[in-house]
Amino acid sequence: MEERKVIYSAVQPSGNLTIGNYTGAISNWVRMQDEYDCFYAVADMHAITVRQDPALLRKRTLELVALYIACGIDPEKCALYVQSHVPQHAELCWVLNSIAYVGEMSRMTQFKDKSQKHAENINMGLMDYPVLMAADILLYQTQLVPVGVDQKQHVEIARDLAVRFNNLYGETFRVPEPLILKTGAKICSLQDPSKKMSKSDENLNASIFLTDDRDTVLRKFRRAVTDSENEVRFSEEKPGISNLLGIYAAFRGCTVEQAEKEFAGKGYGEFKSAVGETVADVLAPIQEKQAQLLADKTYLQETLERGAEHAFKAARRTLSKVYRKVGFYRGD
Ligand code: TRP
Repeated sequence: MEERKVIYSAVQPSGNLTIGNYTGAISNWVRMQDEYDCFYAVADMHAITVRQDPALLRKRTLELVALYIACGIDPEKCALYVQSHVPQHAELCWVLNSIAYVGEMSRMTQFKDKSQKHAENINMGLMDYPVLMAADILLYQTQLVPVGVDQKQHVEIARDLAVRFNNLYGETFRVPEPLILKTGAKICSLQDPSKKMSKSDENLNASIFLTDDRDTVLRKFRRAVTDSENEVRFSEEKPGISNLLGIYAAFRGCTVEQAEKEFAGKGYGEFKSAVGETVADVLAPIQEKQAQLLADKTYLQETLERGAEHAFKAARRTLSKVYRKVGFYRGD
């Protein structure tokens, strides 16, 4: 039997997820779970590299797990778990730290951005973030890492570290590839379409959160920044409208060209309401399912225990190989 490819991805439990996380990450994970061996994690260890309120972090972790399942992630088909429940992530990170260079880490785009944004707290974890992410990926002998474009540089570091380790100690890690998903890989801010839609944007009108109710969704789309023309057409000169067309296509399951045709000759007002309705129609059943799941804590806890056990078994295999290769005494 042909071996199934291993997929790894994770989302941080910090801030509310946006529709960009949904189209760019979660909906693709759902599609892949039948075909591949998937490991999907809640990256709580990454989250603490910027200051978190502990009670809120705990709450968001469980909410995110419920959201994954509500979006269609099936814990029977994949390993759905919380990063800090599997100790090998931190353990492998430590070993990789010794082959990762301070210079390359300090040049990472996200490190530079976050250092600026959190100037009062430029901690070692922030700089080490890509190494921990490499550990996440390499522990499972991952082949494909489905991520948004903003995470591509991190997957490249994971590749570099895998190759470097293999060269130093002999073949140990599989070298992973990023899988940058085209449709909806980049959904932009509704207020400044030159920026990615972000869960941490200060302008709350800029992002549609997966928890937004219908009225909020409709209102935010109504206020979305467009341009002074009146033609629903995809073009670099029309970043606002193009972004909305991309969102519509992703949530409708059609192409941008089909969306353009559908709204040919129609005004921006009508178009914006249609985008809002379409998105709200997708979100409503997810929100309902998430609420049901959160009401059943026992189920969620048991699911996470099973997920962690599944991940633990795979992670242990790689880590013990690594420990042997680097010369940690494991008995004779
Ligand atoms: N850094 C990723 C993000 O913020 C989350 C993440 C952590 C991740 N570990 C990962 C993504 C491993 C892919 C693979 O989006």
